Amino acid sequence: MKGVVLAGGLGSRLYPLTKITNKHLLPVFDKPMIYYPIQCLVNAGITDILVVTGGNYAGHFLQLLRNGSDFGLRRLGYAYQEGEGGIADALKLAEEFAEGESICVVLGDNIIEGNIKKAADDFREQGGGAKILLKEVHDPERFGVATIDADGKVLEIVEKPAQPATNLAVIGIYMYDADVFDICRTLRPSDRGELEITDVNNEYVRRGTLTSQKLEGWWTDAGTFESLYRSSTLVRDAGANRTDL
Ligand code: DAU
Repeated sequence: MKGVVLAGGLGSRLYPLTKITNKHLLPVFDKPMIYYPIQCLVNAGITDILVVTGGNYAGHFLQLLRNGSDFGLRRLGYAYQEGEGGIADALKLAEEFAEGESICVVLGDNIIEGNIKKAADDFREQGGGAKILLKEVHDPERFGVATIDADGKVLEIVEKPAQPATNLAVIGIYMYDADVFDICRTLRPSDRGELEITDVNNEYVRRGTLTSQKLEGWWTDAGTFESLYRSSTLVRDAGANRTDL
């Protein structure tokens, strides 16, 4: 399985910090934000990674990450997203890189305490389809929210519902087979003008090939001042990408 880190978008919720560099290069405690999703993939045994970025500071990624040898990567590639057409729009740029293999996609502003090794191994055995990870949160209206049945099967995901049906957030780590790129081609922009990853996941629900797992340990995004601050505190106090969780 190959890895894709999505680090595009303009990060306008973090102005003025993101007027001088890309959001995913801002510090989270003692490291640039993008180190965490890359290490998350490495911990799952993935060493062939594509970083999709955009905006005015894409060159900063090359200066920082170079050829990825600091992470022991076999290959580190870069792609450039024009504009900010959404997560699924950024994902489209990974099609050639994937070369028909399955992929694990991590949003560049998502940080987890534990690791996804078991989930990745389970997905490798699943033999196609997709897998998402869920976490109970107190503010589900900020995220994609999943409804599951008694067996844990996902019935539906709603993006940022005003009245969430559950407190189960879909975290920004997704595993897909090669069908994902055909699905991305069928998408239409949402009300916020983006190609939504939630629409991709709901298509796998419709096909009956989406599995889900609950994530152990804390999870946070880091795309607002509050969550950026919280992520630094969480990393300082409990560490991130621990292999014992
Ligand atoms: O954090 C998890 C949540 O991420 C999910 O629960 C939601 O279902 C999902 O839609 C997403 O929600 P956000 O609205 O918070 O995503 P945001 O626009 O902040 O983008 C998250 C990352 O995705 C961002 O750090 C970089 C990447 N991205 C985003 C956009 C809009 C791109 O690479 N290109 C883009 O055009």
